[in-house]
Amino acid sequence: MRIQPPGLTTGVVCATIFEDVTVIATESLSKRFPRVTALDRLSLDIGPGVTGLVGSNGAGKSTLIKILLGLSPATEGRAAVLGLDVATSGAAIRERVGYMPEHDCLPPDVSATEFVVHMARMSGLPPTAARERTADTLRHVGLYEERYRPIGGYSTGMKQRVKLAQALVHDPQLVLLDEPTNGLDPVGRDEMLGLIRRVHTDFGISVLVTSHLLGELERTCDHVVVIDGGTLLRSSSTSDFTQTTTTLAVEVTDSDTHPDGTDALRQVLTRAGVNLVGHDGLDGQGLPGAGHILLVEATGEETYDIVRDSVAGLGLGLVRMEQRRHHIAEVFRTEEAPRAAAVTQTVSAVVGAVQQKGSGRDEH
Ligand SMILES: Nc1ncnc2c1ncn2[C@@H]1O[C@H](COP(=O)(O)OP(=O)(O)OP(=O)(O)O)[C@@H](O)[C@H]1O
Ligand SMILES: [Mg+2]
Repeated sequence: MRIQPPGLTTGVVCATIFEDVTVIATESLSKRFPRVTALDRLSLDIGPGVTGLVGSNGAGKSTLIKILLGLSPATEGRAAVLGLDVATSGAAIRERVGYMPEHDCLPPDVSATEFVVHMARMSGLPPTAARERTADTLRHVGLYEERYRPIGGYSTGMKQRVKLAQALVHDPQLVLLDEPTNGLDPVGRDEMLGLIRRVHTDFGISVLVTSHLLGELERTCDHVVVIDGGTLLRSSSTSDFTQTTTTLAVEVTDSDTHPDGTDALRQVLTRAGVNLVGHDGLDGQGLPGAGHILLVEATGEETYDIVRDSVAGLGLGLVRMEQRRHHIAEVFRTEEAPRAAAVTQTVSAVVGAVQQKGSGRDEH
């Protein structure tokens, strides 16, 4: 898909840092508050598709989003969204971009329909179009049945869906979603991530989504940008992060003769001189039943043959033998240990947990 620079005259196209396939570009972007530097010479180039922006608390994710929307001026550097300079074309950017803020900002006394229609009208849609688009959008986010109930009675998951709906209702080219999975349980998170993926696949809308969780973005995003302390740690396609390794994951059944089939295979492979990597560090990284999976260093085709013959010789069933891919968090542990440690620790700490964040921050 090619994103063309929009043709409206209200925006100033920032041609020098914008190319046809660039949706968001920043160049040495800094934001300094009196006591903290939230962004420090950040240069990014984000194309169409679903992009994850990952960083721990205070990394600068929300600050970046507010600058991209033209709501908060940068201290230094430049940024362009859909080819429009954020410093001069905030209103034109907000016409074309949807924004889902991280904090709860919904009026409790009105229904989802009333609120989303209001937001559609604010975005310039005429009354009939606003009502039609609201119905379509609420159906898309799975809130159609409850659309006439007051928002105050909604669950956290339903409120997040209303926030997503209002970001989509004016049919933007790009949505900026600030922690849409915040406060959701694992099932709710999966549903929200599925919805976000479909925003791109069904409607062709590009997405920038922030999260603390590298793992969840790995499944949802085409591209992942990791920031820490306002600086760029890494920006890569998800597939670059998760390249295949030379490690084979081998899982076998148990049998009457070998009640612990995994251990029996481990002994046979060790005697055959195969290098076992063990299974430390896999638990909690998203590989089901990691404790029963042997990690074998593959030196060539012959390793596959040895494993196959050993499993057959023991009379066990081979459940799987596959080349492992990196998980993004592992890449950070091994490649970029010092500064990425904070990100990785955050990731480990919050995987599987419902996030409750403090709100003692000095907001705009
Ligand atoms: N209006 C403000 N005034 C002063 N400091 C601010 C302001 N907004 C943000 N900051 C500071 O800038 C840094 C980055 O904050 P930001 O909200 O962008 O981080 P974040 O990555 O979104 O974090 P979180 O995951 O907690 O939402 C933090 O140290 C924060 O305290
Ligand atoms: Mg934030």
